[in-house]
Amino acid sequence: MTGWLIHNEYLQSGKFKEMEERFVQEADKAGVTLICMSNTKVMAVLAGGDSWRSDPFPDFALFLDKDILLALYLEGREIPVFNSAHAIEICDSKAKTHLALWNDRLPMPKTISAPMTYANIGYTNLNFLEKVENEISYPLIIKESYGPFGRQVYFIPDREKMIQKTKELQGKSFVYQEYIESSHGRDIRLQVVGGKVVAAMLRTNDSDFRANITNGGKMISYQPSSKQCELACRACQATGAEFAGVDLLFDKEDRMLVCEVNSNAHFINLEQCTGVNIAAAILYDILDLMG
Ligand SMILES: Nc1ncnc2c1ncn2[C@@H]1O[C@H](COP(=O)(O)OP(=O)(O)O)[C@@H](O)[C@H]1O
Ligand SMILES: [Mg+2]
Repeated sequence: MTGWLIHNEYLQSGKFKEMEERFVQEADKAGVTLICMSNTKVMAVLAGGDSWRSDPFPDFALFLDKDILLALYLEGREIPVFNSAHAIEICDSKAKTHLALWNDRLPMPKTISAPMTYANIGYTNLNFLEKVENEISYPLIIKESYGPFGRQVYFIPDREKMIQKTKELQGKSFVYQEYIESSHGRDIRLQVVGGKVVAAMLRTNDSDFRANITNGGKMISYQPSSKQCELACRACQATGAEFAGVDLLFDKEDRMLVCEVNSNAHFINLEQCTGVNIAAAILYDILDLMG
């Protein structure tokens, strides 16, 4: 069995390298040949057409990248891609994730996608803000659709900030979202693999509403309830993710709301926190699916 482990040529920081190394280690143990390929190299192989094929195609691709077009090319060549191009596309966008969760009636903070405009035109009026304000009261959250580690998630206390951020983001995809005060600086990250939660941690941050570890959050291993596990698995189903890191928020009654589904989750922190071998869980799930 041979797989391609696909990463992005231009994202070479420690975090990303570590993930690759973990998968290669586990593949070695499982007797699977996992060949590290960058998206640029794979695109060259595919775009070269059959006559150009120097590397034989793999049995599967483990896709650590978000180059969705490339994932679609691979699927077009009937190479099974994990996660699928569809799942990566949905999870990569917080707006598309919301739509997928909403279609399945899963609980999440009230969310409204900003209307689309063109970058070179922007919003020539902001009349729609009144409608957003009727649905979601201040303070609220604005999230850019694309962006990890809590970096593009903003706390909006009032109308002035709302107008300022809306103007700043015009032309990009973003959402307005209800602020869940009961989950301020606190959430749970559940790692789902093949319809099961394999590891979970509680993340807390005393100095920021965002609990991301990269943003200074602290982590502690967590024993999720069966309801929490079921919700995380349903969120994966809704987005089509075979495996994902699902973030859940606590509402006032400590019931859970889906915050987001990360098809390309970084699990090194979670492995260190819980001692669970997540790389192996993902790899063996793929091998199972491949028969
Ligand atoms: N609606 C919300 N209310 C309160 N806190 C939130 C809300 N949405 C996100 N957060 C906090 O911000 C963090 C980052 O948000 P998230 O949507 O997961 O984006 P990212 O992809 O940047 O991690 C979450 O882990 C959570 O702690
Ligand atoms: Mg998150």
